[in-house]
Amino acid sequence: MENKIDILLGLQFGDEGKGKLVDYLADNYHVIARFQGGPNAGHTIKEDGKKIVLHTLPSGVLRKKIGLIGKNVVVDPYTLYNEMKDVAQNFGIDIYQLVKLSYGANFILPTHKWLDKAAEEAKGDKKIGSTLKGISPTYMDKTGRNGLLLGLIGDIEKLHRQYKKLKEKHLNLLKTLPAVDFNLSEEEDKFFNSLQYLYDVEVVETSSWVHEQLAQGKKILAEGAQGTMLDIDWGTYPYVTSSNTCAAGVCTGLGVSPKLIGKVTGTVKAYTSRVGGGPFPTEQENEIGQLLRSIGNEYGSTTGRDRRCGWLDLPLLRYAIRLNGVDDVTVTKLDILDTFNKIPVCTHYEYRGETIYTWNPSIPLNDVTPHYRMYDGWESPTTDALTLAELPKKAQTYLFNVFEQRLGTSIRAVTNGPDRKNYISVTDQIASPAALVA
Ligand code: GDP
Ligand code: IMO
Ligand code: MG
Repeated sequence: MENKIDILLGLQFGDEGKGKLVDYLADNYHVIARFQGGPNAGHTIKEDGKKIVLHTLPSGVLRKKIGLIGKNVVVDPYTLYNEMKDVAQNFGIDIYQLVKLSYGANFILPTHKWLDKAAEEAKGDKKIGSTLKGISPTYMDKTGRNGLLLGLIGDIEKLHRQYKKLKEKHLNLLKTLPAVDFNLSEEEDKFFNSLQYLYDVEVVETSSWVHEQLAQGKKILAEGAQGTMLDIDWGTYPYVTSSNTCAAGVCTGLGVSPKLIGKVTGTVKAYTSRVGGGPFPTEQENEIGQLLRSIGNEYGSTTGRDRRCGWLDLPLLRYAIRLNGVDDVTVTKLDILDTFNKIPVCTHYEYRGETIYTWNPSIPLNDVTPHYRMYDGWESPTTDALTLAELPKKAQTYLFNVFEQRLGTSIRAVTNGPDRKNYISVTDQIASPAALVA
């Protein structure tokens, strides 16, 4: 059978627990590839009390897997350098050997971050709630055909020339935007100092490299960042990020045809969270929302902001499952619901007298009325369960009824705690590393 690329991505608004799942599944793969997004991502991995949040490195590096930073990723060299240093120092991993940078990925310049901040300021009360990592201005330069490519690490004079030109353009643009605090010289020092650290990292031409790996029988997992509802084309525009977070983004981010996509696993949190602005029909702006936030520790991994919390939203999930061609789902953070007596799930919306089971981007989410089905809470701890059968009966009913019956998808796994070991496999047969092609 032809060797294909598997995908693991988020089906909601990000922070579904993708980092933890990729870390867990990494033993089945040789290569983990980020295909889009940048340091706006914050992917948390916890193992034996040790924690790391990865923003740019793919989440397989702790399992000593090759980490490809794909072509549609935007890279802040200072963040990458710090992450590599952290992994090397605190986990004793020879990170230089593991990381591959895409020749055509774009650098985030200090002035992109400055522009991000100023552009948000200009939006007044219509702020996107950007992570201020420079994401949108960097993608604007990419699509405007002005981007500074990572491949220029190998031609430092050219890099400096193009950097200077782009910086001038940004400084002019900044004159048209509100003034915001930004220490350019400090940020430039960080940028150029960290570039020196990256000289020794291998730069590859993404598409050729990926095809070579596949031809050699290497297993590749594409790791999504953000979530489907934050996709630039198919999310809740304009309250989205600036890249294609959906499965289609793997083809453009890694330079492969759709025929080379294998299994697509969607990650769904057992409730919903959103950080930043934008519509959120099942949001609980009340004590329930606060409870979900405090029990679920729902504070941004990248910015530390409070995450907005609410119940599961099936019209959005039906849409996300269809858009991504999801084969199965992993349900995360089930344990956060352990203490609730009733668990509402939004089964459909009412919109202009119509019943909506599957959302689409022409339906303004601010104007829909969510309808809920109440599930009985199980009101007992789930964290020690090792199998689905060991979960409380009411938790099993909730999972089966919501995911298999209402969403028509199959459950690959359920997670019941933040640690690597809190993973209840339903259909996975994790291969031993020795079983992989060397
Ligand atoms: P990502 O961006 O999708 O990788 O998710 P984040 O790392 O930003 O946020 C997920 C948070 O939930 C992190 O703090 C994880 O440590 C934590 N987490 C992941 N899975 C579980 C789980 O099953 N139970 C609990 N209690 N926490 C989890
Ligand atoms: P992970 O990979 C949750 C949100 C921001 C903001 C919007 C645009 O950890 O799931 P940007 O900085 O991308 O221009 O911000 O997108 N956002 C995320 N929300 N998880 C993320 O990543 C996010 N990355 C961006 O909060 O609303
Ligand atoms: Mg996150």
